[in-house]
Amino acid sequence: MENILIVDDNPDIRQQLKWGLGEEYEILLAGDASQGLAAFKKHQPNVVILDLGLPPHEDSSVEGFRCLAEMLDHNPNAKIIMLTGNSERENALQAIQMGAYDFYPKPPVLSELKVIIGRALHLSNIEEQNRALQRSLEQKTTVAGGIIGQCAEMQMVYATIRKVASSDVPVLITGGSGTGKELVARAIQEASLRKNGPFIPINCGAIPENLLESEFFGHEKGAFTGAHATVQGKLQYAHKGTLFLDEIGELPVNLQVKLLRFLQEGTIQRVGGREDIRVDTRTICATNVDIAKAINEGKFREDLYYRIGVITIALPPLRERGDDILLLAHYYLRLFNDEHKKRVRRFGAAAINFLKSYEWPGNVRELRNRIQRAVIMSDFTSIEPADLGCSSHLPVQPEEPRDVMSLRDARDKAEREVISAAIERQQGNIMKAAEELEISRPTLYDLLKKHNFFDGSRKGDVGLSE
Ligand SMILES: Nc1ncnc2c1ncn2[C@@H]1O[C@H](COP(=O)(O)OP(=O)(O)OP(=O)(O)O)[C@@H](O)[C@H]1O
Ligand SMILES: [Mg+2]
Repeated sequence: MENILIVDDNPDIRQQLKWGLGEEYEILLAGDASQGLAAFKKHQPNVVILDLGLPPHEDSSVEGFRCLAEMLDHNPNAKIIMLTGNSERENALQAIQMGAYDFYPKPPVLSELKVIIGRALHLSNIEEQNRALQRSLEQKTTVAGGIIGQCAEMQMVYATIRKVASSDVPVLITGGSGTGKELVARAIQEASLRKNGPFIPINCGAIPENLLESEFFGHEKGAFTGAHATVQGKLQYAHKGTLFLDEIGELPVNLQVKLLRFLQEGTIQRVGGREDIRVDTRTICATNVDIAKAINEGKFREDLYYRIGVITIALPPLRERGDDILLLAHYYLRLFNDEHKKRVRRFGAAAINFLKSYEWPGNVRELRNRIQRAVIMSDFTSIEPADLGCSSHLPVQPEEPRDVMSLRDARDKAEREVISAAIERQQGNIMKAAEELEISRPTLYDLLKKHNFFDGSRKGDVGLSE
């Protein structure tokens, strides 16, 4: 039997609800916020009925808000139904914005309250199933190193990572900025026999040309003015591990020659030194410039290219990864929500549209940054386009002004979101969506009409079908 927690200071209401709901649910009762919170943490109910006016401030919502916030901090997925007095409608609305599931005016009418509880439980179960599905999907689609994505192109990337991991063959990773080149390089190292060895990244574009050689190979004491001691080069640090040469296209031509010699012979000489030092390392290079073009322009040596690019992994731009965008978006939403201890749990329908239609020039890094900022800045439970920094030129619905919203607008908005989420989950199938929402198909039809789901842009978005 599912348990339901009822927190109300009025013993009559507690008894009435226990009596009315006790046959279907296991009822936990509490008379104030601290008892309520204790029971909530101990028994983890999925549904709570919470009085907004609790002692010692029966006439205000202070204690109810506090209790609501603490419950949601503890379990953001709990469905909390607020019981409200007649004068508390505005506070009830605020409770919804804080993340309460619904509110219901006193005195409670059992038959109606039962319907609300039934739906809350239903939704709670569906959400739990969704989370489980998402978790298993993430497990299945992640290879070592936490790369997320399941589109066909990324599956090919994973297959290549697995194939090259067991050998020392050089790999060249290409892709735009923020597509995950370094992540893939680390994943190869982690999947390889060298996983316990060092991973040494060198950004070839970030080091001044005159220091690069010494950075790569090290130098002997006295090799040049200022060389006060013998210094080991980065390549030597990569012994028994992996050398990651980022932005290899920026490497000056004279160093390209020296790098090629190292790759052929497996030994280095420090600047000013004579000794050949053997270095056993695996080389992975990355670039976001077109190397073929650099070769044509005489900026990159063809022989080096053939040496480092035996196997190439090309990372696609984020906008070409289909539903991976949403997979990544939800992953980061959860990650930052936990990290910043917020209560942002979903993307509004318009925000989803934005995520899908935006160009993402900065690829996954940009997505990650936009979502982190949105989670930090949002005071609400869902993310809207403006939170993502979306300007109005994109085809998104006009936003309702948030802080002055009438009760009807709030209900409409909630209704729209629930419907749109159901339609999306059921992939536009109206019949199934109606079933999920526990309403008849004609009723859903009317609601879809009311919320303009049939007008051009929206219909296209959700792709409605019978
Ligand atoms: N498929 C992915 N799954 C999860 N996180 C990803 C994925 N791709 C990239 N990231 C994240 O995006 C950010 C950028 O990734 P990374 O640094 O590997 O990109 P890059 O291609 O090396 O970028 P740049 O060209 O700017 O150096 C990192 O925080 C990384 O963890
Ligand atoms: Mg990088």
